[in-house]
Amino acid sequence: MPRAPHRIVVPGDKSISHRAVLFNAMGEGQARVTGLLRAEDVHRTLIGVQQLGAQLRWEGDVLVVAGAPWHHGGVIECGNSGTTARLLLGALAPRAGARLVGDASLSRRPMRRVLDLLERMGAAPQAHATLPLEVQAAELHGLDHVAVVASAQVKSAMLLAGLGAEGETAYTEPVSTRDHTERLLRAMGARLSSTMTPAGARLSVRRGPLSACDVRVPGDVSSATFWMVAAAIREGLEVELPDVGLNPTRTAALDVLQRMGAELRVEDAGGVEPMGVVRVRGRGLRGTTISGAEVPRLIDELPAIAVAAAFAEGETVVSDAAELRVKESDRIEAIVGGLRSIGVEAEARPDGFVVNGGGARGGEVATHGDHRIAMAFSVAGLCVPVRVSEISSVQTSYPAFFPELERLRASILSGA
Ligand code: S3P
Repeated sequence: MPRAPHRIVVPGDKSISHRAVLFNAMGEGQARVTGLLRAEDVHRTLIGVQQLGAQLRWEGDVLVVAGAPWHHGGVIECGNSGTTARLLLGALAPRAGARLVGDASLSRRPMRRVLDLLERMGAAPQAHATLPLEVQAAELHGLDHVAVVASAQVKSAMLLAGLGAEGETAYTEPVSTRDHTERLLRAMGARLSSTMTPAGARLSVRRGPLSACDVRVPGDVSSATFWMVAAAIREGLEVELPDVGLNPTRTAALDVLQRMGAELRVEDAGGVEPMGVVRVRGRGLRGTTISGAEVPRLIDELPAIAVAAAFAEGETVVSDAAELRVKESDRIEAIVGGLRSIGVEAEARPDGFVVNGGGARGGEVATHGDHRIAMAFSVAGLCVPVRVSEISSVQTSYPAFFPELERLRASILSGA
């Protein structure tokens, strides 16, 4: 008799959780947010918006957010959360002051990409390119910008600033990035329009209020990918992941795993943020090539995909992914270093990496304090003995990851 799939309910989507809280905190009225991710990164946004004047309260598992005009936020601790810092920079610029600080990793990450745009919109020039940053509210005017770096955080920061700026603020992206901001702003009544131009999709927004909007946060497809990879690399294992976010700007990891040979079945239930059930079954994997427009659609999933590549036959080549170097760690070096530590041939390139699948025998992996490196290599531990250097970083996005991994390990053992 075939084994029943191992079912894992993944926690709420991190990107959507930040936006549901932040945008409603800027809006008028009260919104109910269900399925919010309860992890450190989102906690930073919750505390930040409270310091700015929004009222939050829990009703069971539902977070009720009451928006308010913002006042000076004092010192806002963004922790490890790039989304909190960058989206707040844009949201604050026309509205309120605050001092933004972060942990050692976040304090190294580039903020110029947001600051330059805000300064061109009329914000006071900042002497520094990284946190800590002192933000003063200013009268902003619109700007027409064509992006060079594919970044949903930069896009979101500019649109949030544009909602409080005089005239039209436009952001053109040559390659599409996650569109959670656009979806939610539209649902909240923002005057946001989108047109296709030769340079890419041009989003434009005008000054205006936001009205409260209830949000049902789907399961995080980035968290779900760890389990998809677990199934993909363990022949005979099948996982079932209900209520996973299936926004097409986020689902390239599913396409890639399928291309590598994993058996995937997706039932999409639709909605403002589409979600559905994903089932993955392990089969022999083969290497693949990942580049171009696919990259922003799986940027956070590349550590997990690299682990799938380690157990695949042949070569996997990732390019056009230089952004990996400025994530929670330099993920190109962290991935390649991790793969080599477990016996897999891998090579770093300026904008990606190459993995020669096979040969994994296990070892100790340095996570560089990066949650996604810790989780990806712990999944490799289902096939070969792996020790990761620390596990506390998973608190930022997936506090229940290790108990869930142990449950999966027990289920594999009991079915063996
Ligand atoms: C995010 C956008 C991406 C992603 C990050 C979350 C967001 O970053 O890597 O984990 O919520 O907008 P970039 O915008 O820097 O690519």
